[in-house]
Amino acid sequence: MNVVERLEALRALGAHEHGIDRALLTPAERAARALFASWARASGFTVTQDGVSNLFARRNGSRADAKPILVGSHLDTVPTGGAYDGAYGVAGALCALELLDARGITTVHPVEAVAWAGEEGSRFPLGALGSSVFAGLNDESTVRKLVGDDGVTFADALASREGGLLDGVPMRAQRDVAAYLELHVEQGPVLEDRGLSLGIVTAIAAQRRLRATVTGRSGHAGMVPMAMRADALAAAAELVLELERAARETGDAVATVGRMVVEPNGTNVVPGRVVFSLDLRSPDAERLDAIERRFREAIERAQAQRGVRVEVESFERRSATPMTPELREAIARAIRSLGQSYADVPSGAGHDAMSLGKIVPAAMIFVPSIGGESHVREERTADADLLLGVEALAASIVEVDAICDSLSAVRH
Ligand code: GLV
Ligand code: MN
Ligand code: MN
Repeated sequence: MNVVERLEALRALGAHEHGIDRALLTPAERAARALFASWARASGFTVTQDGVSNLFARRNGSRADAKPILVGSHLDTVPTGGAYDGAYGVAGALCALELLDARGITTVHPVEAVAWAGEEGSRFPLGALGSSVFAGLNDESTVRKLVGDDGVTFADALASREGGLLDGVPMRAQRDVAAYLELHVEQGPVLEDRGLSLGIVTAIAAQRRLRATVTGRSGHAGMVPMAMRADALAAAAELVLELERAARETGDAVATVGRMVVEPNGTNVVPGRVVFSLDLRSPDAERLDAIERRFREAIERAQAQRGVRVEVESFERRSATPMTPELREAIARAIRSLGQSYADVPSGAGHDAMSLGKIVPAAMIFVPSIGGESHVREERTADADLLLGVEALAASIVEVDAICDSLSAVRH
């Protein structure tokens, strides 16, 4: 099966009226992992998983003691996701390993196609969850205690039959990695606008995820006078608008409140409690500091003026992740060898490469997203670009195999 056919097969898993919902450790997401494992086994690769449900398919190299080159992305989606974000990089990695087989290419290093667990952070409040545990940026024991939006802990979801670890897949012990590559759809309009089919990522933006809980006082919508209210939703609305203003005025930064839970959520009940998510990004972490400062000042005002209490939890604080120059050059050579051109592009979207890029040389290839659309059902990439991206990835693996032993590990 080529990558287009595989993406169509994956599209069916978790499909609903408004897109695809494959939240981590749910039946649909587990089915995607099982499908990936069956494809990988059918192609003769060795499949393993780890304690947070990351899944690996290994093609051996010629040197038994060489560290593996990992090539991956994620199979989970946002609640109304498209068919390409993440799935393309996983299916594409497997197709690239098969291309190496078909062409009789031997690499020195083993190469592993990886499906990282829970990149989107749509169920548990941590993005790039699996890759961050693998990279040692988060503890497995801490992650196991995380509580999902449905009230289920990560540990319980992992132990469940319907959504948990795959049966009959051995656990992977190895942590050493030589280098990391990731193929992904761009999720923005730049490549399409420039008429290019390939991009090489320069750096991934700094990113923070927080959660605010506003506690007010619930009451009867008809009987509590306006002056005597502590309306949690009205206070949350002020905070959300201040966050938007802060991001606009700071510049070169984005701030999103994408999820809000209102309690008790009744038409004629004053809202007593509101929980909402914050997602902040910028190439420059100091801008995120400035936005967070303004948000916390707005909290002080809301608490003083509205009689509410606001608590903020911080789940994720990632610095910007520059991609490794030598790997970017290796990808550029691979793309030129295919007779293609490319653009250097930054990524405001988060990727598993921001976890691996903290510990080993890492780089990413983008293919265009039609209309720049992503995290929506309409997300699409032309078949020809999907196929070309896999060719570029396979050629890049060969280039990286030749140079990665000369690169030192990174930590930033
Ligand atoms: C993942 O798509 C992210 O950028 O949050
Ligand atoms: Mn993604
Ligand atoms: Mn995504």
